[in-house]
Amino acid sequence: MARRQRLRDAVVGLDIGSTKVAAVVAEVSQTPEPVIIGLGIAPNSGLRKGVVVDIEGTSRAILQAVEQAERMSGVEITGAVISASGSHIGSLNSRGVVAVSRPDHEITADDVRRVLEAARVINLTPDREVLHIVPREYEVDGYDGVKDPVGMVGGRLEVEAHMVTAASASLQNLMRAVARSGLEVEDLWLSGLAAGEAVLTPAEKELGVVLLDIGGGTTDITLYDKGSPWYCSVLPVGGEHITSDIAVGLRVPLPVAEQVKVEQGCATVPQAADREFELPNPSGRGTRRVTQRDVAAIIEARVQELVLLVSREIKRSGYPGMLPGGVVLTGGTAQLPGLVEWMAQVLDLPVRVGQPSGLAGMNDIVAGPAFATAVGLVRLAARSPVREAAPAQEREPSPGLLERLRNWWQALF
Ligand SMILES: Nc1ncnc2c1ncn2[C@@H]1O[C@H](COP(=O)(O)OP(=O)(O)OP(=O)(O)O)[C@@H](O)[C@H]1O
Ligand SMILES: [Mg+2]
Repeated sequence: MARRQRLRDAVVGLDIGSTKVAAVVAEVSQTPEPVIIGLGIAPNSGLRKGVVVDIEGTSRAILQAVEQAERMSGVEITGAVISASGSHIGSLNSRGVVAVSRPDHEITADDVRRVLEAARVINLTPDREVLHIVPREYEVDGYDGVKDPVGMVGGRLEVEAHMVTAASASLQNLMRAVARSGLEVEDLWLSGLAAGEAVLTPAEKELGVVLLDIGGGTTDITLYDKGSPWYCSVLPVGGEHITSDIAVGLRVPLPVAEQVKVEQGCATVPQAADREFELPNPSGRGTRRVTQRDVAAIIEARVQELVLLVSREIKRSGYPGMLPGGVVLTGGTAQLPGLVEWMAQVLDLPVRVGQPSGLAGMNDIVAGPAFATAVGLVRLAARSPVREAAPAQEREPSPGLLERLRNWWQALF
């Protein structure tokens, strides 16, 4: 294939998930919204519960997805903005305070940098690092609710910041898998935050909302309040567990169980129909009849456990609000029939499925909730100040990726 030069203003979101790798290519020069020009999807078995356990297998899946996306877009992909997940992810809200340095007390970008550094001083074991630091709001001389203090006048600058932490080894293994596929990691985002970027409205984030990205191996929980992330956590449970429960419960191989789940699955027994369908006998000889209710009984136990774990996490977060923005579901498992209605009843909150938005072009090909993270990565990449500052070819190779990432959140929230 004769490849075009890498487009000056193309961004690539690479969602490295437990069941699939999705590469989305978008052009950002023409319109205010990024325009999707390519998609590649490859099955991935190199992750377990959101964490790389097979670098070689993950890099093969990345290559396959990237090559597909290159063919569709005609763009040579040399780097991407990637997602990270896994139950090693932790988060906390921290405060920092500094004295404003200029004699005339005008707050500068340097004061903001210093106050964020002050908020970063938290106790972390040597095997962990800060992945993101998000300024939630600033306080100037005790007046809170300040979103951007630069240019204001005051003596004392405080920040309330949300910190996302991660196990360094898990991040490094992820980076190695990407490096092995020959790509540069341009930026790295927590998967749940990227998904939130694709599906949540500013009003929901302001009111208080929980995003649940229920994928194959993980459920990423991201709670937003006053417009910014307030709590991030990842449970090592997802749709693959439902599939393996069905495989055990109905004594069928995993691919058959997956098909049964997608075609006949339903969140709870009362929602299921009496409809029967045929399954091969475990012996391989002949068939037997199974009802949708039998399948729902297996699924119900797992989704009940999941909602219990999610409720516990929300409680554990200490969030004092009522979450009027409700719950938004993304990830492939959000498509399980009956899940939205049942969750709304159990949690007594509004629940909806989040469809990715904010991209033009072939946006129908990434319309499902399973593409929320990939679409969010593209949106974040398009808004990156690094990108806005210089075209791709002129950019320096990233000096210290994580260091750089830590510094540009404030431009986004
Ligand atoms: N119609 C459906 N009903 C129920 N489950 C579905 C449906 N379609 C897909 N799934 C499930 O969605 C899961 C995959 O979701 P997704 O693509 O979001 O995961 P992932 O990003 O690869 O994994 P993770 O985010 O956990 O690392 C699979 O377990 C799949 O069985
Ligand atoms: Mg995912």
